[in-house]
Amino acid sequence: MTQSGADDAVTSTERADLLTAPPSNLPAAATSFVGRERDVSAARRALTSGRLLTLTGTGGIGKTRLALRIATESARDYADGVWFVELASVADPALVSVSIATAIGVRTPEGGSLFDALVSWVHSRRALIVLDNCEHLVEACAELVTTLLRSGPEVRILVTSREPLAVDGESVRPVPPLVVPVSGAVSSVADLFSNESVRLFAERARLVKPGFDVGDQNAAVVATLCRRLDGIPLAIELAAARASVLSVEQILDRMEDRFRLLTGGSRMTLPRHQTPGRPSTGVTRCSRTTSGLCWRACRSSPAAARSTPQSLRHGRNHEFALLDPLTRPWTDRSWSSLIRLHPRRML
Ligand SMILES: Nc1ncnc2c1ncn2[C@@H]1O[C@H](COP(=O)(O)OP(=O)(O)OP(=O)(O)O)[C@@H](O)[C@H]1O
Ligand SMILES: [Mg+2]
Repeated sequence: MTQSGADDAVTSTERADLLTAPPSNLPAAATSFVGRERDVSAARRALTSGRLLTLTGTGGIGKTRLALRIATESARDYADGVWFVELASVADPALVSVSIATAIGVRTPEGGSLFDALVSWVHSRRALIVLDNCEHLVEACAELVTTLLRSGPEVRILVTSREPLAVDGESVRPVPPLVVPVSGAVSSVADLFSNESVRLFAERARLVKPGFDVGDQNAAVVATLCRRLDGIPLAIELAAARASVLSVEQILDRMEDRFRLLTGGSRMTLPRHQTPGRPSTGVTRCSRTTSGLCWRACRSSPAAARSTPQSLRHGRNHEFALLDPLTRPWTDRSWSSLIRLHPRRML
């Protein structure tokens, strides 16, 4: 059964709307967006009643993707635009305001400061600013967000972060996993497609294996796969990418060797999505599933286990350094081949 539960990346109506839409720098989606209708509506309501909304959750749960969806659907509410500020690659807290100004197109005035120009820009604007991946810059973002909200009464800010900013007026919404099939409760394939996780798996598997379908013969296996992956979109995408070479039964069979399976095929997976967590202290820097996989691998390699706490102390900038020793003992591939992108991944 082929069923597209996902929206097209850009519909023709949306394309026509773009001609009259307020300004924005939102990146176009390269892949379909699945589900989350209630989350989008609730977030839009929260941004109407309040002015600062933070989407929280573990790595790969879908915070950035959801924020982009909310921003896209809200674009018409903001005459002065919807502005996406990607902070994952910004290491220096002093550059947060520069990144925001650059995204919006605010320039340093002659004889003035860029910061003041940004503050004066928000003063009279009705705009939505999306600050994406703030977790490593929480203090700087908290301070700046407070200033911008005070200076611009019509400005709204949508944040994604693994932890809240903890400032006045912040509304926090944890992003839940995608809905997974309840064990033993799948009565038909149509039922199965009511689950967001199954739709995402099917959509992504179809990208790498045209004609891939979920039918009576593999429905139970796909349902189990999505359950085992805890409905975490990143894990589902990475597993689905293996459908080009493996049957769903084989993917499931190899779940015990999950880390190698899920990281071996994606050139474009972001380093932060591949970072092992530290279950011994409850610190999870990537999805629960991924950190669990990392931890299992870590236990199987004393050398890797020894390197973990020290590497983690160095923080996110050392994620590359951390992942490499963790993965090398049980992948016979090099680091560069480990981070191969899977062709359709875009965020
Ligand atoms: N609802 C969805 N529909 C389709 N794809 C999704 C959805 N949610 C997430 N994804 C995909 O899953 C992957 C991980 O999502 P995303 O990057 O938004 O996670 P994140 O929570 O922002 O992670 P991080 O904390 O590392 O930034 C991305 O490739 C994204 O496109
Ligand atoms: Mg993100």
